[in-house]
Amino acid sequence: MINIPKGTKDVLPQDSYKWHEIYRVVESLSKKYNLKEIMTPTFESTELFLRSVGDSSDVVNKEMYTFLDKGERSITLKPEGTAGVVRSFVEKGLFNNAMPLKTYYKTPCFRYERPQAGRLREHHQFGVEMFGSNSVYSELEIFMILSDFFGAFGIKPTFSINYLGCDKCNERYKQKLRECITPKLNDFCADCKVRYNKNILRMLDCKVPSCKELLCDIPKFSDCLCEDCCNRYAEIKKGLSDLGIKYVENDMLVRGLDYYTGTVFEIINIDKENGQTALGAGGRYNKLVEELGGKSVPVIGFGVGIERFILYLDSIGYKFKEENNVDIYLASTPECAIYAMQIAKTLRDKNIGVETDLMERGLKAQFKYADKLNTRYVGVIGSEEMTAGEITIKDMATGEQNRIKVDDVANYITK
Ligand code: HAM
Repeated sequence: MINIPKGTKDVLPQDSYKWHEIYRVVESLSKKYNLKEIMTPTFESTELFLRSVGDSSDVVNKEMYTFLDKGERSITLKPEGTAGVVRSFVEKGLFNNAMPLKTYYKTPCFRYERPQAGRLREHHQFGVEMFGSNSVYSELEIFMILSDFFGAFGIKPTFSINYLGCDKCNERYKQKLRECITPKLNDFCADCKVRYNKNILRMLDCKVPSCKELLCDIPKFSDCLCEDCCNRYAEIKKGLSDLGIKYVENDMLVRGLDYYTGTVFEIINIDKENGQTALGAGGRYNKLVEELGGKSVPVIGFGVGIERFILYLDSIGYKFKEENNVDIYLASTPECAIYAMQIAKTLRDKNIGVETDLMERGLKAQFKYADKLNTRYVGVIGSEEMTAGEITIKDMATGEQNRIKVDDVANYITK
């Protein structure tokens, strides 16, 4: 037997209805917010991620699935969705669209992480990237979309938010952070020492407990914001309150990817077994389009981890809507099997879910199988019914049994 690769998951037939429900919610959000789907390749040039996610991030440094293809090109399986969408925006001239351009995607992502519950080497994200607006209103709509997504499952999320400020604020913060960290730099882990030189903000993402402790008295981002940034952050927070969206401020939140500028946020689930995990996260990144060769276009977006979200919904006892694809099971005797298949075809053409006997079972065994399918109607076709052009239909809910003309079956079971 060949086993599934470590850190990956099969979505089994008995579980796929959960994914379908989530993706139905995504489709309905796309209608409500005029989001347009974008699909980009599963793999991209490695350089794309080095230049966007950033070579000081753990995602790029430790977690990428990178290989040389047969043409000696360095290729990487996408570790996240944003970079590919921005690459496409620039390459395909999407800035010619009316702005804002609101895109969404459903994509697999690959990260070579240490697997645990909710942390996979292949996971899937539903994400939104909204191009072209630097208005606070675009921030607020992004929060609304994500709130609505959670709301569709009866959850009112609390956003953990922070504001990384403009270039000047950002530099001021890094300077203060450096002053605070330098005296104790020797006590940090080896990775943090590298982060200190490459991008000191990444030290805030370190998961090593002793490093986390050393960061307990670091300066607050909010203390380093200029007046404009302060006002903008205040406007966002007021907007969130006015829209009834819950948030808490988190000064430590800088997000593990290098492209963010300004607003960043996460929706955290605190779990007894797995500690804190983010169900969804995102932020503004106003420089990335230009850095990847496009014009200066502001963007804000988020990604939600589907597997993590399902784990979370299961943990709170959410009842997904079960799917039943079979409206009627047509049981038949061997001489009527093909006739049953012909009737099945006419019903399926009317969008009715039909199963017929593909196992060459006896009638009794067919009934047993129909019972397992949990189908509302079971039709029986023997030579008598075939000659009369009728089907004996049993309503499994009421036990009622009737002989129905073949042409009337569709109406009868959809009435
Ligand atoms: P991220 O925080 O790295 O952001 O990932 C987004 C979400 O994907 C996480 O909140 C989590 O739910 C899920 N996720 C991440 N890694 C794993 C994993 N190894 N296993 C299972 N789930 C995982 C991004 O990827 C950004 N592209 C989000 C964004 C979009 N920012 C702006 N636009």
